[in-house]
Amino acid sequence: MSETGTPKLSVQQVGKTFATAAAGPFRALSDIRLDIAVEEFVSLLGPSGCGKSTLLEIIAGLQFPSDGRVLMDGRPVTGPGPDRAVVFQHFALFPWRTVRANVEFPMEMAKVARAVRKTRALEHLRMVGLDGFADRHIWQLSGGMQQRVALARAMACTPEVLLMDEPFSGADAITRELLQDQLVTLHRATRKTILFVTHSVDEAIKLSDRIVVMGTRPGRIVSIFPLNEQARSHPDEVAQLRGTIWNLLRKEILPADQVETH
Ligand SMILES: Nc1ncnc2c1ncn2[C@@H]1O[C@H](COP(=O)(O)OP(=O)(O)O)[C@@H](O)[C@H]1O
Ligand SMILES: [Mg+2]
Repeated sequence: MSETGTPKLSVQQVGKTFATAAAGPFRALSDIRLDIAVEEFVSLLGPSGCGKSTLLEIIAGLQFPSDGRVLMDGRPVTGPGPDRAVVFQHFALFPWRTVRANVEFPMEMAKVARAVRKTRALEHLRMVGLDGFADRHIWQLSGGMQQRVALARAMACTPEVLLMDEPFSGADAITRELLQDQLVTLHRATRKTILFVTHSVDEAIKLSDRIVVMGTRPGRIVSIFPLNEQARSHPDEVAQLRGTIWNLLRKEILPADQVETH
């Protein structure tokens, strides 16, 4: 919460129904209620199709809810804005531009002065461990490094909120661990509010202040788990939380008759 008690983001009874030609209306999200505090790191965790991306895009202002509304700092979200940066799994860098020119691109669009763009780009490349790579071309970088460029690009616009949709899903296991570590460092340094979509239980446990578990048919919030550094440092607590979350997910993923109920 801010000093005034207003959450950074407030998702209020949000629902989304898609009109489909073949199957009629499809209820993708139902009655989503979620407040996210200033500087909080919240993960959305759930099986494919439970509406994680739809919810993130509604918060980004890229889609409109069918019901309810989203507030940022108490004001309704009506479209995309520079206060909310989105990082997707497919990071869409321009291959013909250098690393620095990629990071500068959104600032160019926002007509930020050249000297400021350069300083901010270099500063954010340093933050993601890519100083020394500013003048390289995108195709000279590994996938993990490219995702860090995308992260620097999002951060360099100085958004207040980072919305990340499975940003590390394309990375190999080792790179993914390193990207996660870097995001933790970045969050500590910048204290941005982060909403992070993942379908990895361990990733959510490693990164989050709170884990929002979602279920399907219709997409909805099933349970919310707060955690902190202290809980993370106790292997027993982590194992217990992992077990609890997996049990919930199993119930969501498997038909009811296949789930043991003990
Ligand atoms: N534009 C659309 N039209 C119809 N159905 C959609 C559309 N976008 C998403 N869906 C459906 O809504 C559900 C949620 O999608 P999505 O938010 O992408 O889920 P997730 O990111 O959790 O995998 C899925 O069943 C998906 O097929
Ligand atoms: Mg998705």
